[in-house]
Amino acid sequence: RKGGFSHYMLKEIYEQPQSFYETVRAGIDERVRQMVIKADEITLVACGTSYHTALAFKYLAESLCSIPVRVEIGSEFKYFTPPLRGLVIAVSQSGETADTIAALKMAKARNCPTLAITNMQGSTVTRVADETLLMRAGPEIGVAATKSYTAQLAALMQIVNLRCEGAFDDALSHAHLAIGDVLLQDVREAVNLCSTAEHVFFVGRGAFYPVSLEGALKMKEISYVHAEGYAAGELKHGPFALLTAKTPVVAICTPGPTYGVMASNIKEMKARKAPVIALGVAGDTELAEIVDIFIPIPNTHHLVQVLTTSVVLQLLAYHTACALQRDVDKPRNLAKSVTVE
Ligand code: F6R
Repeated sequence: RKGGFSHYMLKEIYEQPQSFYETVRAGIDERVRQMVIKADEITLVACGTSYHTALAFKYLAESLCSIPVRVEIGSEFKYFTPPLRGLVIAVSQSGETADTIAALKMAKARNCPTLAITNMQGSTVTRVADETLLMRAGPEIGVAATKSYTAQLAALMQIVNLRCEGAFDDALSHAHLAIGDVLLQDVREAVNLCSTAEHVFFVGRGAFYPVSLEGALKMKEISYVHAEGYAAGELKHGPFALLTAKTPVVAICTPGPTYGVMASNIKEMKARKAPVIALGVAGDTELAEIVDIFIPIPNTHHLVQVLTTSVVLQLLAYHTACALQRDVDKPRNLAKSVTVE
């Protein structure tokens, strides 16, 4: 059943070109399109990994198509419900996360139009929400979300694309190829650093900040190595105190408006002796020269880089967990769906 893979998680990581492609190919049906087009504001509610895709959506939607977006953690929303206007989207792979469902019900009670983005047809969120946008990831067995994370991004990026009148059609229809390319990325050197570390930081800016949060979550969840994701500019506001030659920092530094400031942040980390593992575009020799380990990703559209960097971080967490002989598919103390509040 694992199709020759040593774990479901690795099989599911490898299924991502297909699940991303299928989710994009399925498109958005007319009723959901109308709902998205009419929204003046969007609030997303989600937990865990799904919260990270929601946060990536906020960066992309606000910067690329100027829609105001708010992202709320399901378990907070219930007790501290913000004033609500516009469309409310619940993002949940399983469709059964109690906190996300509770938040969705509260949004409905306030008469907001509601949309569920889920991988599970017929799940509770689909029954509560007015409309559903179904991801096509197929069943995910590993406890750690991998292909459901990129399929959520496929669904959310299509919403961005719809609001930008199809500007990203090309990027989205080719993204699965770039995802396929990074599956072959060798991360052994980075695994050696992370599997012998007590703490690892993950940093990025813009949409790569939620990618960093997700990289850290994957790392701690399956390898039990303590990891924290930060917006890169925040490290100097406290966490710098923890940097030593034994705290690797994984930094995402791709071309764009924040490239220069990321490169100077990396130099500051190096000055504090932290080993830096950088994810940058292939051929960026300037970056490769200032870091300890350089992991190249294809030089593609920004949207696609959000996906490819995420997949590399999944591989890093996976191989680190294997090096430490963890129970990758069933990490301790965790359940695949969290049905209690
Ligand atoms: C982490 C992970 C969890 C889930 C979270 C929400 O790998 O899988 O953080 O993302 O429990 O689950 P869903 O998306 O089913 O609502």
